[in-house]
Amino acid sequence: MNKYLVIGNPIAHSLSPVLHNYWFKKHSFLDSIYEKKEVEKKDLKKIVEQIKNDEIKGVNVTVPFKREIFDFIDSAPHEVQFTKSVNTLVKENNKVVGYNTDQEGFKISLEENDWNFKNKKVFIIGAGGVTPSILSSFIRLGGAEKIYLSNRTRSKAEELKKIWDKALGIYQMKKDTIEILDWEEKSELCDLIINTTSVGLKKDEKLNFDFSDYNNKKEALFYDLIYNPKETNFLKDARKRGNKTMNGKMMFLWQAHLAFKMWTGVSPIIDEEVIKLLD
Ligand code: ATR
Repeated sequence: MNKYLVIGNPIAHSLSPVLHNYWFKKHSFLDSIYEKKEVEKKDLKKIVEQIKNDEIKGVNVTVPFKREIFDFIDSAPHEVQFTKSVNTLVKENNKVVGYNTDQEGFKISLEENDWNFKNKKVFIIGAGGVTPSILSSFIRLGGAEKIYLSNRTRSKAEELKKIWDKALGIYQMKKDTIEILDWEEKSELCDLIINTTSVGLKKDEKLNFDFSDYNNKKEALFYDLIYNPKETNFLKDARKRGNKTMNGKMMFLWQAHLAFKMWTGVSPIIDEEVIKLLD
């Protein structure tokens, strides 16, 4: 039996097993199974060893261990060494390699809606666990013109800016691309406004930014990484203003798709049925 895991804490609500087991069945990997496992920080080293010993074939890592697992892996591609955020573990040439498919998954989710990063102004709200991957997507994979960053705890946004300012030159981007705004401060009108915070996971939660100017920029896209609930207040308000909206479902699907492909060599199907699994 080939065993796969998603590890995190808490993990009860993860939909990754439903998705991967659907794909295993669909693509006739009848000897493969994907399970969720709640772990503590002290368990991370053993999980990596189990991959090395072939007891586990592949692992997805979710909050709060995407950063911590980095200390236990054998190697990682350049972009992961930068963000130190890992969501997929794969054994390659006897080494456990840590990848991050969130970055690429995010990019594909926009591109399949014909949205290109080039010369776009973006406003990123939040500086939590997933934000480095989003920033990396905009810088490494796309070349955004301007990136505003705002987090309730300003120092965390500043920390991210410090790391990424050093990388801007490598990607032919201007020194002042990233600008920190105070929490709930207005930015100039942007093309994409993205919520990377956890505000909205509970139905009555709401960000208190004033987005009323976007009444005059209907084509602006409001993207919430949350996909459950399907429509957070952030997205509901944007829809009412007539702006474009998108939730995090397709990013989640694509990051899973990319991990599945790394483990099996097969590009798993993304169809209506698989999209419904996440409802
Ligand atoms: P995780 O990595 O598990 O997603 P996290 O790293 O704590 O969790 O990130 C959560 C993000 O949501 C952070 O940007 C957090 O802001 P702080 O850095 O100030 O904590 C943000 N967040 C969570 N609850 C919030 C709230 N009530 N108001 C504003 N921002 C909030």
